[in-house]
Amino acid sequence: MNSGKGFGKTILFGDHFVVYGHPGIASAINDYAETVIEDSDKFEFIDNRPATQGYKEKKKNEIQRQLNSLMNFFELNENSKIKITVSGNLKCASGVGASAALAASIARALNEKFKKNFDDEKINEIAFKAEEAGSGPASGIDNTCAVYGGMISFTKNLEGGKNKIELIESKECEIVLANSGITQETKVVVGEVKKWKESHPEKFSELEKKYLKIYEKGLNALKEGNWKELGKLMNEKHELLKQLTVSCDKLNEMQKIALNAGAFGAKLTGTGRGGLLLCLTPGKELQEKTAKAFEEKGIETRKTKIGVKA
Ligand code: MEV
Repeated sequence: MNSGKGFGKTILFGDHFVVYGHPGIASAINDYAETVIEDSDKFEFIDNRPATQGYKEKKKNEIQRQLNSLMNFFELNENSKIKITVSGNLKCASGVGASAALAASIARALNEKFKKNFDDEKINEIAFKAEEAGSGPASGIDNTCAVYGGMISFTKNLEGGKNKIELIESKECEIVLANSGITQETKVVVGEVKKWKESHPEKFSELEKKYLKIYEKGLNALKEGNWKELGKLMNEKHELLKQLTVSCDKLNEMQKIALNAGAFGAKLTGTGRGGLLLCLTPGKELQEKTAKAFEEKGIETRKTKIGVKA
């Protein structure tokens, strides 16, 4: 049996700013998509991943475009006699890197099946192409987390060359991912932010300057394991994302719930306008308390950790 995994991710700093060549920080989470390839008498693609309601319907075309890109790469077509089954414990939602995890897991499994011996760099390149085919221009931060795992600092090379990826040595820390239940298309939101940037150049450059200070301080806080400072910076990043028009009422209300429960900080993560809220909750007790505060309001959560090596 040939199989492959791709990790989910959460972005601590850099959501949207990474698209414009600024550095960002993201961490793989413990949850992953897993693909198994088996021989069959026809071509089959079975998607058994757990998902937020409505996610798979909304992403149907995106998933198909990703699959086509991966199949082209491995010279497969609808007559190929293989069965691709995707499952895993990563619950699909906007902001968790589900599509990149899917692409990375399929690329790894096909690599094994066809004994291509591609290294991680090549798998990352294939996953990135599939990501772009599926959801339009992307920074590459999602697929990089999906393939390498761990905590990374990531800078997109806007000239098209290699992106700068550095592994960050950080302690582990408990987090809660709270799900707004709203699914968004990254391509659409990234496109709207680009338009906003073009019509508000001065405001955008002010946000960029503020963001870069947050990034530098955030990197130090992570290396030192200074969770209080990290949480404060996450809150500041959420404010910047609000000004960038990528938050929404639901996420802002959810941030209040997290902070009232004692979370050190909380911010939207990834695309925004829905998707997930990342809450920094060091220690199991605070993690439980924060998750409970959401669940009492009918908001689904996932308790996991950042800084865990793949
Ligand atoms: C999506 O998870 C993160 C964005 O910054 C887009 C990207 O980096 O490709 C919004």
